[in-house]
Amino acid sequence: MLTEANNQSLIETAAGTRMGELLRRYWYPIAAVAELEEKPVKRVRLLSEDLVLYKDLSGNYGLVDRHCPHRRADLSFGYPEECGLRCHYHGWLFDKDGKCLEQPFDDMVDSTSRYKDKTPIKAYPVEAKAGLLWAYMGPQPAPLLPDWEPFNWKNGFVQIVFSEIPCNWFQCQENSIDPVHFEWMHANWPLRLKGKTGPYGARHTKVGFDEFDYGWVYKRVREDTDETNPLWSIGRVCLWPNCLFTGGHFEWRVPVDDTKTLSVGWFFNRVPKDREPYVQNSIPYWIGPTTDPKTGEWLTNGVMNQDFAAWVGQGEIADRTGEHLARSDRGIVMIRNRFFEDMETVANGGDPKATIRDPKINNDIPLPIVGKKQFVEGFTREQLMSSSVFDNVTPTRFVFQEGQPEAIKRAYEDAMGLKMDDDHGISDALSGIRRVTKPDGSPA
Ligand code: FES
Ligand SMILES: [Fe+2]
Repeated sequence: MLTEANNQSLIETAAGTRMGELLRRYWYPIAAVAELEEKPVKRVRLLSEDLVLYKDLSGNYGLVDRHCPHRRADLSFGYPEECGLRCHYHGWLFDKDGKCLEQPFDDMVDSTSRYKDKTPIKAYPVEAKAGLLWAYMGPQPAPLLPDWEPFNWKNGFVQIVFSEIPCNWFQCQENSIDPVHFEWMHANWPLRLKGKTGPYGARHTKVGFDEFDYGWVYKRVREDTDETNPLWSIGRVCLWPNCLFTGGHFEWRVPVDDTKTLSVGWFFNRVPKDREPYVQNSIPYWIGPTTDPKTGEWLTNGVMNQDFAAWVGQGEIADRTGEHLARSDRGIVMIRNRFFEDMETVANGGDPKATIRDPKINNDIPLPIVGKKQFVEGFTREQLMSSSVFDNVTPTRFVFQEGQPEAIKRAYEDAMGLKMDDDHGISDALSGIRRVTKPDGSPA
């Protein structure tokens, strides 16, 4: 249980708040590279600030204030020029660093006018990596955008999924260090949703949490496994500050503001050896629905949809003054304490956890990964089809989120050389998730 003041300090995202300042020391994925190829200007809200992301005609990315400093027009209606974004109202032009390059009428009537020097716009750096566009909103010099090892894996089909979640990001991230929920929410609940009453999945008998440079590893032993199982000996990763990394995919919980989160999923599927070499020219993205358009009910078939339902169920902002933490919640206490400590560190001018500044370190950074060998070295089609090497789920279904578009399914099928199940309902696929894994990460 937290005091109201501590609960409040954990959830704040705006500049000038303690957590808001801490969060401004990290990079956030805010769009797909492919998205800006289709439409070069995008409205973005990040850390309680309204912004506009764009790609100019020279290929530079910019992230600027939503409102023009002239008379506050909405720059999401702006149009990209050779260099920068031009306001659609009176044509003022701003570059990616926020400099005002042109004020067309003033420049016309007085070619020596330097008024534009007085009207810069707020601007933040943007970098492209792994098919995503990332923003940094903190003080300079910016830390490096992490180069996690899976971003450099070869022969993989990657897809990116965005979903807007109407609750605070921190309760989403607490889910990244919560092994026991897996049993009840991802194994047993789907069973009940399908009208069955059993048998329930293997129960957790032990959980563990180890801190490392870039987050925490959470570990589990269930009644059908022991400590030789990679889910104990390697574990899954609560990646700092706002991500869950399972091996085959990342899930970032991007803080939009105090009551909204952008879920960004990045999913890697290694193609079977008979499809190698495989090069993906462009990483596709899609928007994952969260509710049923007919009923307005939350979707509950996809693994992450189940998570979303839990997060929003906690309220827009989880009231931690009313909770009763138990033995399964040690990891949650640990990460809260680390955030409290890091708020202090940042307030005192220091770098918080997992800030990377050395380019030698920021090169293919290894992470704890169950089944790493297979992700890196590949496997045969027989291995792929007879087992579930990616996150222990079947390769013929996308189990993580509902609503995968047909075009993405077809692209995946082409890449993998397989046919996805005709029944695109995905709850059955969770049987794969319950599968027991051997020490090398392959299914038992
Ligand atoms: S409001 Fe943007 S140029 Fe006038
Ligand atoms: Fe989950």
